[in-house]
Amino acid sequence: MKVLAILYEGGKAAQEEPRLLGTIENKLGLKDWLESRGHEFIVSSSKEGPESDFQKHLVDAEVLITTPFHPGYLTRDLFEKAKNLKICITAGVGSDHIDLNAAVDHRIQVLEVSGSNVVSVAEHVIMSILLLVRNFIPAHEMIERGDWQVSDVARNAFDLEGKVVGTIGAGRIGYRVLQRLVPFDCKELIYYDYAPLPAAAAESVKARRVEDLKDFVSQCDVITINCPLHEGTRGLINTELLKHFKKGAWLVNTARGAICDADAVAAALKTGQLSGYAGDVWNVQPAPKEHVWRTVKNPLGGGNGMVPHYSGTTLDAQARYANGTKSILDNYLNDKPQEVQNVIIGLGKYETRAYGQR
Ligand code: NAI
Repeated sequence: MKVLAILYEGGKAAQEEPRLLGTIENKLGLKDWLESRGHEFIVSSSKEGPESDFQKHLVDAEVLITTPFHPGYLTRDLFEKAKNLKICITAGVGSDHIDLNAAVDHRIQVLEVSGSNVVSVAEHVIMSILLLVRNFIPAHEMIERGDWQVSDVARNAFDLEGKVVGTIGAGRIGYRVLQRLVPFDCKELIYYDYAPLPAAAAESVKARRVEDLKDFVSQCDVITINCPLHEGTRGLINTELLKHFKKGAWLVNTARGAICDADAVAAALKTGQLSGYAGDVWNVQPAPKEHVWRTVKNPLGGGNGMVPHYSGTTLDAQARYANGTKSILDNYLNDKPQEVQNVIIGLGKYETRAYGQR
């Protein structure tokens, strides 16, 4: 059996740190395990264009392993060429880089390691909310520059206490964000999701559901995005919706870059309609050097908390998603049932309701 894994190049860091499992150097810890069982295991970071290892090996691979951090984009066209493909495994959470509707049509299963990095992301969200609301990055940059002018940073620094915070998507990550916000004594925690939280879960974080998106955004001081990218969420945060945000709201997006219209968000930050934008996900990854989100600032010169896609790939998370990938493979190889929560696309159908209402 041929197993193809598209991972990112970890370079010197991955040679020095074997726990960087999601790299081409450390191969999710699967190399010896797979090869000792007689399987061919191809690992590469080359993923763009017809000459890439991704496209060359896809034609006869039976198993494809990808990660959201360095996504091998599996389009409908490529599904046509992948004649031997049976199963796609996402080492992590979020399989939007795979055309899921095409996977349904081709009866190719798609699984992810559900839950593997949800705490990692939730912690990053809390950090990002705080660094925006408290105007942390300009304050730190001032110190590095050798300056000291407290009023320049304090003029745009606030407390999280007393603010309304809302999450778009209240699944595993969104709910963990709400749980972690409870001790901050926010004015209110609200959420927007077509799947309501179980009553006891909503009650334990005192979260109120708002059913209309415009109504929801207009109530929030801080919005955090925690839903998957699918046809119903692509470009959800656009020029029109941003008009309904509270003036000077803060927006955190660790879900997927393409949920936000990049130019619309940049324009809103520039005018001060948004006070800040932070997150780790980009509409193209790796993000080009000139991507507007790298440098765009609010009118006071702050409000940018962007980092590369790493919130869900802490060393703790890598151990969990590498183990999870192995156990999905083991189930597949030995004809054992898969854990239900990991199955996104079963044979010819969606097995989850998280990737859109259908
Ligand atoms: P989940 O499946 O537990 O929860 C997703 C929630 O979003 C569900 O409750 C679903 O009903 C809701 N949803 C779907 N479409 C929606 C819409 N149009 N409006 C409002 N809510 C909607 O997924 P989980 O584990 O919470 O992950 C969410 C997403 O976070 C992933 O799909 C992935 O894109 C992203 N993620 C990012 C990581 C990172 O490193 N930055 C790591 C892990 C996940």
